Amino acid sequence: MDAKEIGLKEREVKPIVDHLNDLLANYHIHYQKLRGCHWNVKGGHFFTLHVKFEELYSNAQQTIDDLAERILTLGKPPYSTFSDYIKVSSLQEINTVGMNDTDMVLAIMDDFTKLIDMERELMVLTDAAGDDGTNDLVNSFMQFKEKNNWMLRSFCGKN
Ligand SMILES: [Fe+2]
Repeated sequence: MDAKEIGLKEREVKPIVDHLNDLLANYHIHYQKLRGCHWNVKGGHFFTLHVKFEELYSNAQQTIDDLAERILTLGKPPYSTFSDYIKVSSLQEINTVGMNDTDMVLAIMDDFTKLIDMERELMVLTDAAGDDGTNDLVNSFMQFKEKNNWMLRSFCGKN
């Protein structure tokens, strides 16, 4: 498929797709981090956080699929191997075994901040290209993390 077929300019779509693929790679690292937190969380907040991390990784899983399918909609292949994800992602893996529960929440909040930065950068490009479809999608991902950042911040007792 050609970007022209959906009313977009190939030249402008290329950097959008590259950024979407970057975001996809980062999201895979984020997703697995959430799974690790879900599995390894311990202590008095176990029941709360075990469920919360599941909600967040389920959302991340859906986001990953939406990102990959948006890339395909724009006519390009999404990264689909873990070697690509690890190579491309700026988010780093963490070892969640023995990790304090608040540190887990802080690590997820840190991922949120970085992912939101990437999404804001992406939305500058989608705005300029008139790619409202990608813009709308990425905006919804961002709003989910903004809201959850508030909840996790409140959980940690931060202002
Ligand atoms: Fe589970």
